[in-house]
Amino acid sequence: MPLRKGPFVFIVASAALIAFAQTPPPPPGQRPAQQGRGGGGRNFLISRDVPDPAAVERGQRLFVANCGFCHGSNANGGGEGGPDLIRSALALDDEKGNKIGPVIHNGRGKMPPFPQMTQAQIEDIAAFLRAKQQAAINRNAYTIQNVNTGNAAEGKVYFEAHCANCHSPAGDLAGIAGKFTPEILLNRIVYPGGRGGRGRGGASASRVHSTVTVTANGHSYSGTLEYEDDFHVSLQAPTGEYLTFTRGPGVRVEVEDPLAGHEKLIPTYTDAELHNVLAYLETLK
Ligand code: HEC
Ligand code: HEC
Repeated sequence: MPLRKGPFVFIVASAALIAFAQTPPPPPGQRPAQQGRGGGGRNFLISRDVPDPAAVERGQRLFVANCGFCHGSNANGGGEGGPDLIRSALALDDEKGNKIGPVIHNGRGKMPPFPQMTQAQIEDIAAFLRAKQQAAINRNAYTIQNVNTGNAAEGKVYFEAHCANCHSPAGDLAGIAGKFTPEILLNRIVYPGGRGGRGRGGASASRVHSTVTVTANGHSYSGTLEYEDDFHVSLQAPTGEYLTFTRGPGVRVEVEDPLAGHEKLIPTYTDAELHNVLAYLETLK
């Protein structure tokens, strides 16, 4: 499915309405508290680092000089033919230049390549874009108020096409509207498993566990993922045993996140689709 650019920010913004209502954005340079278990790999834009102001400033200078002509000096697409990078799915998905870096180095379409740009400069530009994105989210967070604007009939059609392979209105989602307010339900769609929405009307803490298989010394160990960082991984085996492994050569770790498929859909919704599907779920009392 193609990534649709404009509306994505509204989805993030709708979620931000709730997320920021509970957790104010942290001061620059600090990582916000992780809401999900384990943290790793579960970051969404809101839970990411607030970039270093010095990097943002350097990035802004580079951006205005090299990119502003086409993308607008505010990166909002107000230049000569370059797209809005604040709402770009690619830029929203970026971590320290890993997504925008290749575009900068290689160019794309009518965009010229900048092969001389260093990794440090790309990271500064990434920091500048991240600051712009976060500012846009903060602003929208307080203006998008009404979540009850969707069309339930259209939402049902969308649900059957995109959600019904994992969910059933008569099964796992039966009565979902009675469990959550519309705001919380919207938040559950964007942060399934309780991320960002826990505590306020969220009846259940996260029930979603990733499974992990660690292969070391010719043996495989599988279980629910309990902890994961760059150095260690811990799992609870079906026997109840708690096992911790040190990562390294010869140790293979495969994590299967049951929410991966759900999360993959998130950047593809338009604002209207999200609100329609919410209106449909609201009929599941
Ligand atoms: C001459 C105009 C021009 C300049 C200069 C330029 N760009 Fe672009 N940029 C474009 C155009 C046009 C596209 C869309 C290309 C396409 O997808 O066909 C684009 C696409 C991008 C994308 C991908 C957006 C997406 O959502 O896929 C990124 C990221 C980007 N530019 C960053 C930069 C950065 C950073 C600079 C400065 C270092 C820069 N651009 C300089 C014209 C320009
Ligand atoms: C690839 C599978 C998959 C797809 C597709 C998918 N989801 Fe999910 N979704 C999940 C999983 C797994 C959970 C976590 C279930 C849990 O909390 O037990 C989840 C959780 C949810 C929840 C929270 C339920 C609760 O009780 O907290 C909602 C609401 C939801 N999904 C709605 C949707 C909607 C609407 C769509 C389509 C736009 C969709 N999902 C698409 C797998 C999927």
